[in-house]
Amino acid sequence: MALERTLSIIKPDAVAKNVIGEIYARFEKAGLKVVAAKMKHLSRSEAEGFYAVHRERPFFGALVEFMISGPVMIQVLEGEGAIAKNRELMGATNPKEADAGTIRADFADSIDANAVHGSDAPETASTEIAYFFATTELCPR
Ligand code: PPS
Repeated sequence: MALERTLSIIKPDAVAKNVIGEIYARFEKAGLKVVAAKMKHLSRSEAEGFYAVHRERPFFGALVEFMISGPVMIQVLEGEGAIAKNRELMGATNPKEADAGTIRADFADSIDANAVHGSDAPETASTEIAYFFATTELCPR
């Protein structure tokens, strides 16, 4: 399996629940390393830009409102198969459908407030990492 990097966001609902540390522990137990991190309160234009691919979807406005409702914790995770591994840890988009023991099953309340984001493919991981981090902010490989 290839060594990969992926973008992860701990969303405003999970930050408000004070479970950043519990979520980081899950990354670490799964062998994922945090190689960059920042806490940020996204502006509307930052959130709209990040989710631009979903602009035409009916939930776009609600998603942006939610993502700017409080601070988020943004990190780059590195590990073997990091993209799929992180998606596995996260669980399904809708927490009602998420497997037991996943982050969304344990910490998310609804499809709108679903605790975490994770890149879904190598191309999106590169774009999303560059959206929030300069190369100089990442630990060297
Ligand atoms: S995926 O995997 O990106 O294709 O997931 P998808 O189901 O298409 O959802 C894309 C992002 O939109 C969020 N989402 C929603 N937000 C608010 N309301 C509703 N109904 C809703 N459905 C999906 C979903 O959490 C995804 O955000 P991220 O940050 O990528 O997880």
